[in-house]
Amino acid sequence: MTRSSNIAARGLVPGLIRRLGPNDTEGLAGHLLRLDADARAARFGGLVSDIALRDHALLALAGGAVVLGYVSDGVLRGVGELHAIEGTRPMTGEAAFSVEAGFQGRGIGSKLMRRVLSAATARGIRRVVVVCQSSNRMMRRLAGHFDAHLEIVGTETTGHLTTPAATPLRLLRVAVSDGFDLAAENVERQARLFLSTLPDRAA
Ligand SMILES: CC(C)(COP(=O)(O)OP(=O)(O)OC[C@H]1O[C@@H](n2cnc3c(N)ncnc32)[C@H](O)[C@@H]1OP(=O)(O)O)[C@@H](O)C(=O)NCCC(=O)NCCS
Repeated sequence: MTRSSNIAARGLVPGLIRRLGPNDTEGLAGHLLRLDADARAARFGGLVSDIALRDHALLALAGGAVVLGYVSDGVLRGVGELHAIEGTRPMTGEAAFSVEAGFQGRGIGSKLMRRVLSAATARGIRRVVVVCQSSNRMMRRLAGHFDAHLEIVGTETTGHLTTPAATPLRLLRVAVSDGFDLAAENVERQARLFLSTLPDRAA
């Protein structure tokens, strides 16, 4: 086992993974904008403008997607998105991941993947696909750790994953963490609002 998978397996990644909501739009856009050119291309399958990234952040959090974020020192550094694919039977979702350069290789992607798969189970999604460039060694390794079946078609690889069983404990855990995350987001928003009403101490 390598150092990074050791860290991930032992759950020693510092920071917090939580569900993101509409109030995280700026944070999500900031994270996507900090991705370097290679990571942007790897995440979105090609060139993507700053405006398109801002639109993506807005739509992802306003729509029905589940977006989980890794937050370190109050800054969003990694994201796992799950989008249900309409009309699929059994219900299938597409997942995508991004971790900022200085934070890669620490098990954050693996933790996000685990949470995304549990979130999928809780929403009745039985299968998850992850699409990446065939040259994307990190994503292929990451998917491999979750027993993905990799289908390679030219320059594109699709990882097919099966979501974990819907045990009562797993469903409860997702329900509790979703509720907690929404409450935490609310408190954070109220605190920001409160702080903005305070007189500027420097004045
Ligand atoms: C793919 C990605 C999300 C993985 O995130 P991560 O936090 O680095 O993932 P982990 O730390 O859990 O590592 C996953 C595997 O990648 C390997 N890895 C991570 N960083 C690496 C690096 N810089 N060089 C080589 N391998 C690396 C890890 O060693 C691990 O494999 P192992 O456990 O067999 O050793 C991240 O690299 C990323 O954001 N890439 C750009 C966007 C992208 O490619 N998204 C995927 C398409 S949706």
